[in-house]
Amino acid sequence: MGNLPGTRDILPEDTALWQFIEMETRGVFERYGFYEIRTPVIEPTELFARGIGGDTDIVGKEMYTFHDQSDRSVTLRPEATASVMRAYIQNTMFREGNLRKLYYFGPMFRHEKKQKGRWRQFFQAGVEAIGSDHPAVDAEIIEMAISMLEALEIKSRLLINSVGCRECRPKYVELLRNELQKNSDGFCGDCQRRAVTNSLRVLDCKVENCQPLIVGLPVITEHLCEDCTKHFIDLRGHLDDAGITYEIVPRLVRGLDYYTRTAFEIVSGELGSQNALVGGGRYDGLSEILGGPATPAIGFAVGLDRLAMILSETRGQTDRRGPEIFLAWMGAAAFSKSLQIARQLRRAGHYCYMNFGEGSLKSRMRLANKLDAKHVLIIGDNELANERYAVKRLADSEQWEASLPEIENYLRKC
Ligand code: HAM
Repeated sequence: MGNLPGTRDILPEDTALWQFIEMETRGVFERYGFYEIRTPVIEPTELFARGIGGDTDIVGKEMYTFHDQSDRSVTLRPEATASVMRAYIQNTMFREGNLRKLYYFGPMFRHEKKQKGRWRQFFQAGVEAIGSDHPAVDAEIIEMAISMLEALEIKSRLLINSVGCRECRPKYVELLRNELQKNSDGFCGDCQRRAVTNSLRVLDCKVENCQPLIVGLPVITEHLCEDCTKHFIDLRGHLDDAGITYEIVPRLVRGLDYYTRTAFEIVSGELGSQNALVGGGRYDGLSEILGGPATPAIGFAVGLDRLAMILSETRGQTDRRGPEIFLAWMGAAAFSKSLQIARQLRRAGHYCYMNFGEGSLKSRMRLANKLDAKHVLIIGDNELANERYAVKRLADSEQWEASLPEIENYLRKC
């Protein structure tokens, strides 16, 4: 039986790279004062329908939704921002009154068309800073995303936009809808429907024939209210002060409806059409949509599968940690002694490889080399009788005899 399309096993040869990415990413998040939150991978469907928006591709076509045994409609999370906001409200974190900085790692599920860099179960690391609308927070979040990619030595480009607020956006959307109604013929079926239901989504359409028409539509940055204009100018000032380069892309609207003001993506030149590594933005209205108090917030998520894809091409395989000592035993008595030695060395904190099959010394040495072991401990009848074992260091093939306490002492110093 195979796995489901769009899912995959990440095998031990690859997990070292994933652990490296997770460690670097976590390190950057923690340096900026973020704390980890873990939310369920399964949530009430309503959370995403309300949070992400009913007319987005994610909610409309891509969610893994089913009825559980209690006939409740549940969904495997397609993203985590709605869940984090739900947890923030449910656990009354707003009572503390300060900026809450939360980060998460985990699998997300979207039933998308399969493509290079696009999975149905994929992994994100994300951050949410909840409780401030200061543009310096937006800049700090963006700076952190860039630091994370720099720590991984991944080259990227930052794209930013402002998608306005509940004051100015409806007026812009009205203008857009009027424009679209005047000239809807050339657009794809989805765009024609969205022109009426959720006009902003037209800007996010990826259909090739729609692109020249989209370029001719009015842009939101020319229709922002005074406060949003100032917020966007201030954000750019903070980015300039931090020496961060960016491109303003007025048609960047992102695929989720909760965004307000700042929207951004970080893209890589090293991936094909699925080139977005990081997606994020401000979502000042989400708390209220989910029944919480008015609370401004901003965050982003990075696609870990895409980082792993780039790094496995640019860095190759990350070294696996080889055993410090490989036990090459010969005969039944040596086998029992090896079990004892393995136990003792592991208790002392050493990575010890116990081999369970019979075999020649030559085949044992071959396996030890393959596993990248640092030392081989040879245990045969003579060694058992004298309680002194042959230790072979594989790096320079030097070999010597030692008692178990001497070996422990040596390993401790390695
Ligand atoms: P998003 O843009 O949908 O945003 O996803 C963020 C990142 O997740 C993308 O840039 C991409 O790297 C990765 N990603 C998305 N879909 C897939 C897929 N099917 N296969 C592989 N990687 C994928 C969000 O999810 C928002 N919750 C981000 C956010 C946090 N906004 C505010 N706070």
